[in-house]
Amino acid sequence: MSVKSESWGSRVGLILAMAGNAVGLGNFLRFPVQAVQNGGGAFIIPYLVCFLLMGIPLLYIEWASGRFGGKFGNHSTPYILDSMVKGRILKYIGVFGIFTNVAVAAYYCYIESWTMSYVYHSLAGTFEGMSQSGVAGFFDSYVDIAQSTTGIPFEAVIFYILCLLLNTYILSKGLGGIEKVAKIGMPLLILFGMILAIRGLTLGTSGASDLFPDANAWDGLNFLWTPQYSSLLDLKVWMAAAGQIFFTLSVGMGTIHCYAAYMKPKDDIALNAVSAGFMNEFVEVVLGSLIVIPIAAGYLGLDWVIENAGFGMAFQTMPYLFQQWGPLLAALAGLFWFGLLFFAGITSSLAMGTPWMGFMRDEFNWGRNKGAWSFGLLILVMGLPTVLFFKQGVFDEYDYWAGTVSLVVFAMLETILFSWIFGMKKGWAEITSGADIKVPSIYKFIIKFVTPIMLIIIFLGSLFKPLNNDWSGNISSLFSGNGWKLDNGSIIKTITHAGIREKIALATDPAVISQLEENIFYINIARFLLIGLFIFISSLVYIAFQKRRREGRATL
Ligand code: PHE
Repeated sequence: MSVKSESWGSRVGLILAMAGNAVGLGNFLRFPVQAVQNGGGAFIIPYLVCFLLMGIPLLYIEWASGRFGGKFGNHSTPYILDSMVKGRILKYIGVFGIFTNVAVAAYYCYIESWTMSYVYHSLAGTFEGMSQSGVAGFFDSYVDIAQSTTGIPFEAVIFYILCLLLNTYILSKGLGGIEKVAKIGMPLLILFGMILAIRGLTLGTSGASDLFPDANAWDGLNFLWTPQYSSLLDLKVWMAAAGQIFFTLSVGMGTIHCYAAYMKPKDDIALNAVSAGFMNEFVEVVLGSLIVIPIAAGYLGLDWVIENAGFGMAFQTMPYLFQQWGPLLAALAGLFWFGLLFFAGITSSLAMGTPWMGFMRDEFNWGRNKGAWSFGLLILVMGLPTVLFFKQGVFDEYDYWAGTVSLVVFAMLETILFSWIFGMKKGWAEITSGADIKVPSIYKFIIKFVTPIMLIIIFLGSLFKPLNNDWSGNISSLFSGNGWKLDNGSIIKTITHAGIREKIALATDPAVISQLEENIFYINIARFLLIGLFIFISSLVYIAFQKRRREGRATL
């Protein structure tokens, strides 16, 4: 290895970079939507339990695996896993830890580029005087490249490329660049978030809106924070809670391993891992729930929020609501909100670049520039289809396979590997070595038994998701001999496009049918690209293995 390996500049830098990695668009866009869609207060308890029983254990597993692999000069999951366990095949599990990042970065950077564009439009006053449907229409026309009327031709593509260039440039500066962005971005994000949260909290209980005089910001908060114990038996809510925990903590991805691989062997994990994890939870549970939900509930009412909870809320509604505060405050609020989202996004997308760069450096001696630019190019190739064919479902397809299924699969496999093959004895020693706090020993038991079992249940649950997500109904139907009916959203049925095919069968309008058939075509292209990417990275791991063998560095 002729290229010198890097390490983090300081402990604060490492924690902020790790927190920046975790704190992302998921905290502000995904969390509130998941919480509202899963019954508000009904969601919070399963969510917190998943954090304690899966989130924290996975953080420990990934930090420990990463720091362990780093001692042997390995900075990406294929060879981090290889340094932990013997077995030629096992390193291919680590392919997920590079694949997921490239695939997620491809669509994640697209959302990040929206935030850049929306900062610009907020400051330029584009939304001034627009009605709510005008603001929503602006977004629709933005993502519909062919009919864009946003004022800048091909705007979505231009901002996407700008966003990739910015990411690539920072990545080419190495860990120092990432640390600097985290040190500036995280405090600003928290500041912007606090200002907006205070606004959300002070909207009061009535009178915010002429349109909906009964609208009440506090309804939104009460809805979220009044626990409902009935949900504890609803597996659907548990699945959603677990999915959110994975995404928001960036576990099951490979980025945490990579960041941890640049630590020094004696550095603490026990305290660092929970500090970064809790910082993420603070931003998610406190700031993530105090902005969109109360502000939207304050103006449009809780019923509206529950009915319309979705990804677009942040882009299709917030700019309009800000307009109610007058032009100057609206521009400022737009800057704070989309600026906050931008910082949340970029500290995460930078993290997604590091496993690829670490791998290419470890195995093929690629320096920072080559690593960063090749990553940018890879994202461009994978990501342009999500930009150009957003409406046809390419974006959602990536999000499903890479941003949801892959995380669970990798988290499950790595946990079994860590607790059972690497072994809990070595594993525990690794987690606690250099520790600045005592990790409660109950976690030894949790990591060995509880976490893997929960992960296996979640994986099987998504594979065989029951019809209409009705768990109790299907379980009793199974026991009474009537079988198990799969939902169109189960992994198995998704593969066959069952949901879209059902819609085609029911549709009568030929235009709708041809539109749906077109979607199947584009979704297949998305799958082809994802499978191609997986094969490509696996081949690189294989080539690296041959090279290591020739150089006498292979473990097997
Ligand atoms: N945790 C990030 C978020 O909440 C997403 C992410 C995924 C970050 C993968 C890094 C790697 O948005």
